[in-house]
Amino acid sequence: MQSTPSAWSDADAYLADLLVGHDPHLEAALDAQREAGLPEIEVAPVGGKLLNLLVRISGARRVLEIGTLGGYSTIWMARAVGPEGRVVTVEAEADNAAIARTSIDAAGVGDRVDIRVGRGEDVLPTLEGGFDLVFIDADKESNTLYLDWAARLGHPGTVVVLDNIGRDGEIVRDDTTDPKVIGTREGLQMLGEDPRFDATALQTVGVKGWDGIALAVVV
Ligand code: DHB
Ligand code: MG
Repeated sequence: MQSTPSAWSDADAYLADLLVGHDPHLEAALDAQREAGLPEIEVAPVGGKLLNLLVRISGARRVLEIGTLGGYSTIWMARAVGPEGRVVTVEAEADNAAIARTSIDAAGVGDRVDIRVGRGEDVLPTLEGGFDLVFIDADKESNTLYLDWAARLGHPGTVVVLDNIGRDGEIVRDDTTDPKVIGTREGLQMLGEDPRFDATALQTVGVKGWDGIALAVVV
């Protein structure tokens, strides 16, 4: 078997079929997002399930998501927090938030999800802290700002997940001019140096190509 993007994708689909299965609400959320012309950059099905498991393994009841997009990952995490849990999700684009609202409500978890529309830098300072898990999946240029807020709005033991740390291996380029790669590198550097975090990162291949996540705990 050749290690090619199409082989990664086929293997990812195989794993998703075996371990994630099919879910009409999640698939409807993706259809709605696609029909509205939103970028198809949500987490992969196996990644959505990973977020769901991380919430359950950590026992998180208050989850903060930065970057709602169409609500796909939000639904995965809202299911995991349980009926008394809450997900606050921050979305800069009002049109995205409206699509997410409809999909999240249709999935039956609307009462657990509070969508805050606005740029992270404006919305995050207005939030009450105490989040048990923070998922950062927004504009990569602001990763350090979001990590700072994750630490401030979390507590010792808060789980932090930072999406898209692989970027086709471009992260090794210290001469890059791509603002997304620069933001990704700055986020990783912060996770390594800032004493508020203890972190690692895993590269992934699959339906999203070559990418990965960083996983951290607030110490
Ligand atoms: C991009 C953003 C994402 O959150 C993602 O998962 C993949 C790509 C991007 O902006 O390029
Ligand atoms: Mg992402």
